[in-house]
Amino acid sequence: MTTGTLAFIILAAISLQVGLFTLTALYRRRALFCAAASVPPATAASTWKGFREFVVQRRVSEDPQGTICSFYLRPVDGRPLPPFKPGQFLTFRLPVDDPAGGRSGSVIRCYSLSDAPHPDYYRVSIKRVPALPGQPVQPPGVASNFFHDRVTEGSRLKVRAPAGHFHLREQDQSPVVLIGGGIGITPMLSMLNRLLESGSPREIWLFYGIRNGREEIMGDHLRSLAERHANFHLYRCYSAPADGETAGLDFQHRGRVDVPLLRATLKPAHYQFYLCGPPAMMESLAPGLEELGIGDIFYESFGPATLARPGATETQSETAAAEISVTFGRSGRQIAWDRQAGSLLEFAEAQGIEVDAGCRAGSCGGCQTPIESGDVVYDQPAVAEVEPGHCLLCITRPKNDLTLAA
Ligand SMILES: Cc1cc2nc3c(=O)[nH]c(=O)nc-3n(C[C@H](O)[C@H](O)[C@H](O)COP(=O)(O)OP(=O)(O)OC[C@H]3O[C@@H](n4cnc5c(N)ncnc54)[C@H](O)[C@@H]3O)c2cc1C
Ligand code: FES
Repeated sequence: MTTGTLAFIILAAISLQVGLFTLTALYRRRALFCAAASVPPATAASTWKGFREFVVQRRVSEDPQGTICSFYLRPVDGRPLPPFKPGQFLTFRLPVDDPAGGRSGSVIRCYSLSDAPHPDYYRVSIKRVPALPGQPVQPPGVASNFFHDRVTEGSRLKVRAPAGHFHLREQDQSPVVLIGGGIGITPMLSMLNRLLESGSPREIWLFYGIRNGREEIMGDHLRSLAERHANFHLYRCYSAPADGETAGLDFQHRGRVDVPLLRATLKPAHYQFYLCGPPAMMESLAPGLEELGIGDIFYESFGPATLARPGATETQSETAAAEISVTFGRSGRQIAWDRQAGSLLEFAEAQGIEVDAGCRAGSCGGCQTPIESGDVVYDQPAVAEVEPGHCLLCITRPKNDLTLAA
């Protein structure tokens, strides 16, 4: 064999190996992408597009002070309900004006499903947001007060299909730690009910942070579950117990849910942590848990929905510094956009353009708008599914001259 032939054979072998490696890597990437993008298997009854009409079948007051109310919903069309993943939420369009702007006579809000999936109803549990004293006084919450004051048994509501990436990982068998602060308990209730109703043998901890028993929701239900299921450990943490409430009897821990408490209570293991609560709780717990390194952490934040914060998220994005014009197709208005304008949602609202909005955080899909021309840049990854050729106004800015169908 000549040196040339030998060199040719070596080169051919190397090329073959590189080719095979590249093909395998591409196949793996595609498989991973498909797995990440997969949604629950769709059946004829599994989902719907846009808003579907539901009727309120029952409402139930859930806490001693009467500030949290559950609403049981059935579809008006009588067709079966698709299952959802415990932890997901529903998006509602309510026929009420949003003083913060948006489309007149319409407000969009998200509410977590608060029960395990059942084929014949969905349940959400909503806390009334009261007016808060201060300078200036903060007005009462629009949607939550609408639910409490105007939604009765027989009321009809427009509802989007269950959505959200914050949900129970059921295929995993590691022990589960559910941490709910205040109304952040709702997705935890869905996960807890699902695990126990399905007879899961997984060890389950629920750390429920509230001030005292007056704020506790579904107290009897939680206590009864803890008595009936040896694998479920209920840990009520009262930061300000009321007179007469006794540690060990009415609650398990005096104080907030924090990392020292979790460290002292949980045996060494690899856990799945699910967190939802007020910003202060999330800000202290999430990094603390990550530092502990004893499991996977999933979290969701409800956040205020209507507070417009123009320019609050000063961009690190690739939006160009040069002048950009944004055209709103419906009104035909063409307006110069600058960095101080904030997200496209804040920009539209500031200009008096009527657009839909809900969570203001890329979760509900409420602000999804078709792009007629131009490009946008996302400030953060979208949680809602975004259709091709559309964008979520609440978490995007224009990259170049843009025409929106809004
Ligand atoms: C994924 C997700 C799931 C959720 N699940 C639940 C759930 O299960 N249960 C639940 O109760 N909530 C849940 N929420 C929160 C819910 O969507 C609403 O944000 C909440 O009900 C408040 O809405 P609202 O319309 O009543 O209040 P808003 O009208 O949005 O007001 C919120 C706060 O902002 C203040 N505010 C409004 N406008 C102004 C202004 N111009 N100036 C100063 N302050 C102002 C109000 O005083 C109030 O304190 C969830 C949110 C998300 C994103
Ligand atoms: S307002 Fe909910 S995704 Fe934009």
